[in-house]
Amino acid sequence: MTEASIAAQRIEQLRAELDGHNYRYYVLDEPSVPDAEYDRLFRELQALEAEHPQLVTPESPTQRVGGEALAAFGEVRHEVPMLSLGNAFEEEDLLAFDRSVQSGLGLAGDLFGGGVEVEYSCEPKLDGLAVSLRYENGQLVRGATRGDGSTGEDISSNVRTIRNVPLKLQGEGWPQVLEVRGEVFMPKSGFEELNVRQAESGGKTFANPRNAAAGSLRQLDPKITASRPLEFCCYGVGQVSGELPATQVGMLEQLKAWGIPISRELKLAKGVQACLDYYRDIGERRMGLPYDIDGVVFKVNTIEDQQQLGFRARTPHWAIAHKFPAQEELTELLDVEFQVGRTGAVTPVARLKPVKVAGVMVANATLHNMDEVARLGVMIGDTVIIRRAGDVIPQVMAVVPERRPADARDVQIPENCPVCGSHVERTQLVKRSKGKETFSEGSVYRCVGRLACGAQLKQAIIHFVSRRAMDIEGLGDKTIEQLVDEQLIASPA
Ligand code: IVH
Repeated sequence: MTEASIAAQRIEQLRAELDGHNYRYYVLDEPSVPDAEYDRLFRELQALEAEHPQLVTPESPTQRVGGEALAAFGEVRHEVPMLSLGNAFEEEDLLAFDRSVQSGLGLAGDLFGGGVEVEYSCEPKLDGLAVSLRYENGQLVRGATRGDGSTGEDISSNVRTIRNVPLKLQGEGWPQVLEVRGEVFMPKSGFEELNVRQAESGGKTFANPRNAAAGSLRQLDPKITASRPLEFCCYGVGQVSGELPATQVGMLEQLKAWGIPISRELKLAKGVQACLDYYRDIGERRMGLPYDIDGVVFKVNTIEDQQQLGFRARTPHWAIAHKFPAQEELTELLDVEFQVGRTGAVTPVARLKPVKVAGVMVANATLHNMDEVARLGVMIGDTVIIRRAGDVIPQVMAVVPERRPADARDVQIPENCPVCGSHVERTQLVKRSKGKETFSEGSVYRCVGRLACGAQLKQAIIHFVSRRAMDIEGLGDKTIEQLVDEQLIASPA
């Protein structure tokens, strides 16, 4: 055997092994080797391909780094249109949907009940962007956005950089043409990290994971997309040559066996009450999920029944999105006040026109520090996007610049502490390296009053008596505040 054919063989072996590890990691959620071993195989493949560039193929696991930047996206016509879904907001909307499915299938009962329970596939409604991935002979040949449902944009180079999108299908028996459809999204942790990176490098930060996913996928330079933590989750198919299993759940499970990632939360429910249980259960776990969902989707499980039920304009009669209450709302920033903490840190707090977010009235939101105020570019009077995720403190995510009134005012840090009147100073950061000290401005402002400042004193005593310090029982925050206000105590001692 020649040196080149030995290399070709080893390359094949490495690709198959890496594809297998990717499949177990991303699709089965069962990592099979430590990261270090994966990296070693990956580097070996990279080195061999560098020595033998004629052996590089687009399906190689090394080819996810993103190729050349484009001048514009091409157009893609969807042979099978990409539809949207009708919405249910209340339980009653879902019950009405179920009745219409039953009557459409001739299963409805009479006045005395007796309707047949319909089987539904239950899936989370991921909050990202719909895409269509086209496989021909098991190879990924194209990726497209939904666009207007009939025509989308060709984002092939970008979807190839998404780690859990297989460039090549696993197993066997796939149809010659297979379009899989699903959502591209950014997991919450990746979104947080991306925003930190962006802020550090002076780049644009994103208001929520959905915007970050959209901004990352629609990049003319696929190298940028490659650097963003995007994931894909399949929920259906478009054009398919040949047969697939006869149910929604069976079909998704078949796609999973071919290496396409599907939701871990996919379930089959018998009857609408089981759908409501699913909605409640996942609603309770919503905050703990690693990605944002804005509801759940129920689909009639039997494909033949789906065909019988058909479509109305752009939405199917056989599926519905049952939405959760929104986690983001618009409201007005009425004022910014400054709070003083235990260490004297003076932090801006947004006073808002009260608005209901995810079922709870919100009138205050944290602004963290003055750097955050600058990053948001927020002014008093602005319309802002408020986000409240679970028990997390409501946050100001972004400003709506188009709605800025003419009399909007700058947010200014007070010169004197709002509680004790002492001077407010910007903290300095000191960096020591090789015996030299360099100073830079910190993001925190501090009241210099120490324990002479009522706010700092209260917080210091609250801290002093707390469980993790002296653990003094029966002395609550309210009592401490009163004792300090009445000047009955002046120090922890
Ligand atoms: S099914 C014919 N399933 O929601 C059915 N859509 O409003 C077409 N989405 O554009 C869509 N998760 O971007 C379906 N499990 C899911 C989904 C889902 C998220 C998005 C998708 C679609 C929009 C429909």
